[in-house]
Amino acid sequence: MNDLAKGLKGRDFISLKDFTTEEILYLLDLADELKAKLKRGESHPLLAGKTLGMIFTKRSTRTRVAFEVGMYQLGGYALFLTKDDLQLGRGETIADTARVLSRYLDGIMIRTFAHQDVEELAAHATIPVINGLTDLLHPTQALADIMTIREWKGSIKGLNLTFIGDGNNVAHSLMYGGAKVGLNVTIACPTGYEPLPQVVEEARRIAAYNGCQIAVTNNIREAVEGADVLYTDVWASMGQEEEAEKRRQAFRKYQLNSEILKMAKPDAMVMHCLPAHRGEEITDEVIDGPQSAVFDEAENRLHAHKAIMAALMG
Ligand code: CP
Ligand code: NVA
Repeated sequence: MNDLAKGLKGRDFISLKDFTTEEILYLLDLADELKAKLKRGESHPLLAGKTLGMIFTKRSTRTRVAFEVGMYQLGGYALFLTKDDLQLGRGETIADTARVLSRYLDGIMIRTFAHQDVEELAAHATIPVINGLTDLLHPTQALADIMTIREWKGSIKGLNLTFIGDGNNVAHSLMYGGAKVGLNVTIACPTGYEPLPQVVEEARRIAAYNGCQIAVTNNIREAVEGADVLYTDVWASMGQEEEAEKRRQAFRKYQLNSEILKMAKPDAMVMHCLPAHRGEEITDEVIDGPQSAVFDEAENRLHAHKAIMAALMG
């Protein structure tokens, strides 16, 4: 085992900013390798006999299924735990939950609202904690996204990714992940929906070190010109349902449609973390068109999650 692999054992996966560029590239290579093995039908029981607990206080299709199937393919077992089933739902503390689950499990994946809750869980757990999405970040998504970009484009460094829409959890993780691997990331959003200033600042610091740029603008045309990757996500995230109508108005001009796609590079690829609200942030024509990488991107969640689990929990 090399030093990079050793250094990842037992770690939490809470934000891509906590990992070095080399560690992220190692995880991407491992994800590619596991994907190739699966396609060849070679078994890869790297987590035989191990168990992952998956806590969800928000809905999920991709994250849940990719972690659960991924664990199965690695020879382990995954437990689906909702807050309604756990004593967490009737007031047991996060710290006690972390201490107890650490006695049974080999890793915990959690999807929830407050990012701080994930940090608290990790602080009290003695096993790796993986962030499966918070209001602040979605790092497993960004890792799979970078894997998909590398697969479609052959490389990542120096490419331009433009994210159109809300400066949300997915945007934040793309900024951190992009900054780490040398991808220029521009967020094009309406006024008032910019990414958090402290995330922008930190991502810029990381980007400066890695020779790339992070930009935020309200000018969608300017942001899209020269883009190699166009990315979008829903206008109202989980937990913002009551703002949906107000947001529909605010984001009207920030739709990823054919007209916008034409302004990017001719070979630009289209991404969306899914689930999509077709006809709102993206049109059918674009998401189902030849430039769409959206379903490869969804598939790569499986391979990226397996790499994360194998590296941290192996
Ligand atoms: N992209 C994503 O995380 O999808 P789910 O909400 O279905 O897990
Ligand atoms: N920004 C979205 C991503 C869903 C995968 C949300 O948080 O609901």
